Amino acid sequence: MRKYVIAGNWKMNMTPSAAKKFISDLAATLPAQNKCDIVLCVPFVDIAPAAEAAKGTPIHIGAQNVHFEKSGAFTGEISADMLLEAGAEYVIVGHSERRQYFGETDETVNKRTRAALAAGLRVILCLGEVKEQRLAGITDEVVAMQTKLDLAGITAEELKRVIIAYEPVWAIGTGLTATPEQADETCGTIRRTVASLYGQAAADALIIQYGGSMNDANAAELLSKENVDGGLIGGASLKTDKFKAIIDAANK
Ligand code: 13P
Repeated sequence: MRKYVIAGNWKMNMTPSAAKKFISDLAATLPAQNKCDIVLCVPFVDIAPAAEAAKGTPIHIGAQNVHFEKSGAFTGEISADMLLEAGAEYVIVGHSERRQYFGETDETVNKRTRAALAAGLRVILCLGEVKEQRLAGITDEVVAMQTKLDLAGITAEELKRVIIAYEPVWAIGTGLTATPEQADETCGTIRRTVASLYGQAAADALIIQYGGSMNDANAAELLSKENVDGGLIGGASLKTDKFKAIIDAANK
């Protein structure tokens, strides 16, 4: 009953002109009806041209971060209203690269998530354990804690616009993918945690993606798992043929 959501996270790649070309090339290969939702989360300056190029196609556009204040003296930040007006429907919040390199904490991730939802955006909330935590056997505790802290204060109604992306940090950009069993198990832990907060029906409806070296070769097996409802794809979302192959796996 859950629909797959295949999302690309371009990170700091693709100029506006490259984004437009990518979207028209990809759209030309897509069937009119897709069983999955398709999202591209692009750099801020690409949002408006990408949204324009995606008009009339099944592709939805997202951003990669959002500030929690509506406006003000926050040099280098961007507001939810700015993203919406530029044409973004989605925003990634809490990506591990933001947590690792830009000092994001569960507290700021929660504030950004709340602001984005209040403004009407859909949120792809990223969380996941680092290698040491997996080796120490505390992955379940870590993702349960992140889920609780990052969703604090979010209503059941708002949760309907949240996707959780389980991204084990050790699998991002490393070529090391979680096994389908590991992905399923940890996405299941996240779903149980959401059930404890919002009830079973809300947890059953929640889209939980896997992210971390997902590619055209491993997507079908990861997506075959019960608790994996899509992917958040970095490197393999930068090539139309590879990204299309992942969409094909979700469309099967
Ligand atoms: P890779 O697919 O390049 O490992 O990146 C995953 C990711 O961080 C998506 O947000």
